[in-house]
Amino acid sequence: MTKRRRTRILLGVTGSIAAYKAAEIARYFMKRGCVVRTVISESAEKFISSLTFESLTGQPVLRSFWEETKPGAIGHIALADWADGVVVAPASADCIAKAAHGFADSPLLAILLATRAPIVFAPAMNVNMFEHPQTQENIDTLRARGVTFVDPGSGSLACGWKGRGRLADASEVYSVTMRALGPHDLIGKRVLISTGPTREAIDPVRFISNRSSGKMGVALAREAYRRGATVTLVHGPLSPSPRLPTTIHRVSITSATELREEMLRRVEDSPDIVIMAAAVADYRPAQAASEKIKKSAARRAIELEANPDILVEIGERKGGSPKPFLVGFAVETGTPEELVEEVRRKLSRKNADLMVGNLAQDSFDKDTNRVCLVPRRGDTISTDTARKSAVARKIFDLIGDLTK
Ligand code: CTP
Repeated sequence: MTKRRRTRILLGVTGSIAAYKAAEIARYFMKRGCVVRTVISESAEKFISSLTFESLTGQPVLRSFWEETKPGAIGHIALADWADGVVVAPASADCIAKAAHGFADSPLLAILLATRAPIVFAPAMNVNMFEHPQTQENIDTLRARGVTFVDPGSGSLACGWKGRGRLADASEVYSVTMRALGPHDLIGKRVLISTGPTREAIDPVRFISNRSSGKMGVALAREAYRRGATVTLVHGPLSPSPRLPTTIHRVSITSATELREEMLRRVEDSPDIVIMAAAVADYRPAQAASEKIKKSAARRAIELEANPDILVEIGERKGGSPKPFLVGFAVETGTPEELVEEVRRKLSRKNADLMVGNLAQDSFDKDTNRVCLVPRRGDTISTDTARKSAVARKIFDLIGDLTK
């Protein structure tokens, strides 16, 4: 897969008790491959030292107009031009008010005027300050100019009050920022994804399941969100439960029967793209015992009956219509050549537009995957091993090409 230039994030830190959390946000972006530089306000320095950011990011921190980073360079303009995205976290009421009115009496405010990059604000303040009509009006003004806001969380605030005003956590700030940076090719599109294993009850304490981690479907949900889609993720038991952007609608199911019900109901709302990444159990115990089955004979059998094939049912409902664009997954255990053959067979049997094939040994319990992409029309593409996030990007690139 092609190596991309690292995303450049300019982190603006303003005066709020939550300023210490900006260090964690810087780390979070860096761990995900971004280069982070920091501009810090005078009042933020009362809460956290610029040295913290210098040490964490390995980059000089811009603190004032009079301490430019390179002799002869105008530091704040150079930074405004350098950034792919500007993230103000925490954004204080004062910073939001000044930005809304075009003030430029600090390096960060000047950067907010000078930059052409997307801007994201993550507010943090006392609940009454946040809910004050003036602050809300300032937020509306900035929103109308294209600034993105990460909604603050609710809970106990450092000032002693309870309510909205807590700085959103690093993963939320990151997801919202990545969505603001785009690409925006799925804006206005609705994407329905299933992932994870199902569990078929034998009795109240036992079940039949499989080794699916659900990570591939989670990566697809994150990628669809990043591209601007409205995303619903129907998932079986996932451990650990993944952190997802708060606006991804999560629906948790246990059995194949529940998954079928949730998927078919949602398909009725005609989503644009449906991806069946779930590892659905093909069989369930014909009768789940209502009490725990006690140990008895040396051998015993469990009678199984087939679960309906959800992808086939969705494929039948779709018929010859282009919508939804239907994607299925297939996991096999043979050779890569056998995989492609089997995936082709499943593609036509299930009336999918695209099947993604992977081998169990490449995928289960892993953060990476190696897949073959078999579209109904067009050539088969085989990828190298890459992180599931990169594979998800590739899958949506292909869906974009196939639906042009
Ligand atoms: N699938 C489904 N409902 C099922 C079984 C599978 O919707 N009861 C979907 C999966 O989500 C996946 C695709 O069908 O998108 C292929 O699943 P897979 O288990 O590889 O194929 P099967 O048709 O079950 O064939 P087999 O297990 O014999 O390989």
